[in-house]
Amino acid sequence: MRFKTTAEHEALRKKVREFAEEKIKPIAFDLDQNNEYPDDIVKEMGKLGFLGIPYPKEYGGQGLDVISYAITVEELSRVDGGVGVICSAHTSLGTWPIFAFGTEKQKKKYLIPLAKGEKIGAFGLTEENAGSDAGGTETTAELDGDNYILNGKKIFITNAPKADTYVVFAVTTPGIGTHGISAFIVEKDFEGFTFSDHYDKLGIRSSTTAELHFENVKVPKENLLGKEGQGFKIAMATLDGGRIGIASQALGIGQGAYESALGYAKEREQFGLPIAHLQVNTFKLADMATYLKAARLMIYSAAELKENHERYSADAAMAKQFASDLAEKITSEALQLYGGSGFIKGIDVERFYRDAKITQIYEGTNEIMRVVVGAHTVGKAPKMKAAGSNKKSGPIAGVRKREIYEGDPKEAVKNLVAALKKDGYDFTVGIDPYTPVQEAERIVVAGRGIGDKKNMKLIEDLAYQAGAAISSSRPVAETLKYVDLDRYVGMSGQTFKGNLYIGVGVSGAGQHLKGIKNASTIVAINNSKNAPIFLNCDYGIVGDAMEILPLLIKELDNGEEKKPAPPMKKMKRSKPRKMAPTNPIYVDTGSGYEYNPEEGDPENGIEPGTPFDKLPDNWVSPVSGEAKDQFIKMDVPEDRK
Ligand code: CAA
Repeated sequence: MRFKTTAEHEALRKKVREFAEEKIKPIAFDLDQNNEYPDDIVKEMGKLGFLGIPYPKEYGGQGLDVISYAITVEELSRVDGGVGVICSAHTSLGTWPIFAFGTEKQKKKYLIPLAKGEKIGAFGLTEENAGSDAGGTETTAELDGDNYILNGKKIFITNAPKADTYVVFAVTTPGIGTHGISAFIVEKDFEGFTFSDHYDKLGIRSSTTAELHFENVKVPKENLLGKEGQGFKIAMATLDGGRIGIASQALGIGQGAYESALGYAKEREQFGLPIAHLQVNTFKLADMATYLKAARLMIYSAAELKENHERYSADAAMAKQFASDLAEKITSEALQLYGGSGFIKGIDVERFYRDAKITQIYEGTNEIMRVVVGAHTVGKAPKMKAAGSNKKSGPIAGVRKREIYEGDPKEAVKNLVAALKKDGYDFTVGIDPYTPVQEAERIVVAGRGIGDKKNMKLIEDLAYQAGAAISSSRPVAETLKYVDLDRYVGMSGQTFKGNLYIGVGVSGAGQHLKGIKNASTIVAINNSKNAPIFLNCDYGIVGDAMEILPLLIKELDNGEEKKPAPPMKKMKRSKPRKMAPTNPIYVDTGSGYEYNPEEGDPENGIEPGTPFDKLPDNWVSPVSGEAKDQFIKMDVPEDRK
C-alpha cells in the first residue's frame, strides 16, 4: 500500500503550522501556566476556517475531507495540545452530531455558526456514574408540553463553560437501558443551565473543562436531535469520529515532543559529540520517527474510511489507542533526552509530557478502545446485564430516611429539630468548633451554596448551637478557602464517621457523599430540590440557607451556655420505615425474597412506589440474582397487612 497525502493536504498543513508557530507558540507557556483559554486565538481560528474543516461550504464549513481535519488538529497540537482539543471537541463532538443527525432547521440555526467558528460547541455525555459505561446516563429529560425538562449533571466536559452550544444526552425513557437515551441541543443561556468552575488540570490547560448542571432546564421539543431513544447511537457514532480527532491530537503532541528532543539532541554535546549520535539516543529517535509514521498512517487511513462512508469504528479506536499510548511514551522519552533541563518549566517537552496523558483517557479510555476493537475481532462478549447496570446504583451514602421538609421554613425547622431530638441528639452540649473532623461527633458543613464568605458566621453560629465542629465541601476549602484544607470532607482519608452531619448549601458531589456515608444521621439544607444530597439524607429542608439558618440557630438555642459534650457514643443509623405490604407482592421462587412495590428496592436504585411491571428489564432479585420472570405474584395474607 502506498499512501500519500495530496498537495492540498500539505498546503493546509503549512497554513495551520504557520499559524500555530506564529500565534500560539509564543503564548503557549503562559496559557499553560495560567490555566487560560485563548479567546483571541479561537476567534482567529474560526475566521481562518479551522473550526469547520470537514463541513460543506453551504453550511459555513470548508468542504474539506476528514484527513484535512486530522491534519489541522495534528498541527495545532504539535504546538499546543490544549488548542488542539478545543478544535477537536468543537468539530467532532459539538458540531458533527448536528451535521449528521440534525434537521435542516437545526443545521441552519446551529451548524452554520459552529462551522464558521462564530460559536463554539461541546458534547455532554459523561456523568459521575456514566464514564466508560456511557449507557448508565442518569440525567433525565421529561417531556412537558412543548419542552423537555432536563435535570442532572455532566462532568469533565471539554470546552465548557466557553462553548455556546452543547449536545447533551439524557434519559427520556427510564428502565430500558441505552434505548431510553435521547440527544438534545442545549444553548448556554437556557434558564437553569449552569456550570462549575473550570477544572485545574494536569495538562491541556489552555482548554477549559467544566461540569454542566441542569436544573429544570426547558429545552424546546424542536431541539431533540434525531428521534427519542436514538441518543446512545448518536453518542457512539459521534465518538467514533471524535477518536480520529484525539488520535490526531496525540500524534501532534508526540510529533512536537519528538522534534523538540531531536533539535536538542543534535545541539547538546556530551562525551565529545552531540548526544543524538550516542547510539542509545539515535535508536530512541529512530524509534520515535518510526512509530509516529505508523500512527499517522493509521489515523489517515481511519479518516479516509470515514470520508468514504465505510465502517471505521474499529480503525478509529485502533488509531486512538496506538497514537495516545505512543504520545505518552514519546513525550517521556523526549523529556529523558533533555535530562534535567526537561524537568524544568519553560521547556516545551515538560508541557507535552503532561498534555499527552489525557489522550489515553478521554473520548473512551484505551481500555474501552480495546473493547471496541475486540468487538470487531473476537466479537461482542455475551451480555450479563444491560448497559449501565454495573454501576452501584442507589444512594452513595446508603439508603436513608429521606424525610424532606418543604414549605413554611419555620415549620420545617421545628420538625427537623424535633426529629433530631427524638433520635437522641442533645443540643445542650457542645464541642470545640475546631475539633478535627475525624474526631467530631457532629459537624456542620458549608457547601458552595453558602455564597459570600461573610455567611460563614452563620455556619459558626449553627456549629455552636448544634454542638458541632465546622467543616466544608472540597471547593469551599480548596477554591474559596473559607476553611483550612484539613477541615473539608470528601476525599479518602478525610471522611466523617461521627453521628450528625448537617450540610448547608452542599449539592452532594460523589466524593463528598462517599466521605459521609458512615455518618449516623445526614441532614441537608439546600435551595435546590434536585440536589443529589437529598437522595442521601435522613432529614432535609428545601429552602434558602440564609432564611433557614437563623431560624435553625434560634430553635437549637436553649438560652444557656453549652455544657461540655460527653465522649462520643456512635449512634445506630436510623433505618427507613418499613412499609406494611399491600396487595399484591411478588415473590422470588428461588430465595423467597418478596418485592413490595410500596418499598421498591432503593439499594438498587428502585424508588419506593415502583410497580413490579415498571421495574427495569435488567433488575434482578437482590437476594438470589434471579430475573423478573422467576417471580410469582401473590396476595398478602390478611394478618400481614
Ligand atoms: N455506532 C453506532 N451505534 C453503535 C456504536 C457505534 N459506534 N456502538 C454501539 N452502537 C449501538 C449498538 O449497535 C447497540 O445497538 P442495539 O442495542 O440496537 O443493538 C447499542 O449502541 C448499544 O451498544 P453496546 O451494547 O455495544 O453498548 P455498551 O453499553 O456495551 O457500551 C461501549 C459500549 C463501547 C463500552 C460504550 O459505552 C463506550 O464507548 N464507552 C466509552 C464512552 C466514551 O467514550 N466517553 C467519552 C466521553 S466524551 C469525552 O471524553 C470528550 C472530551 O472530553 C474531549
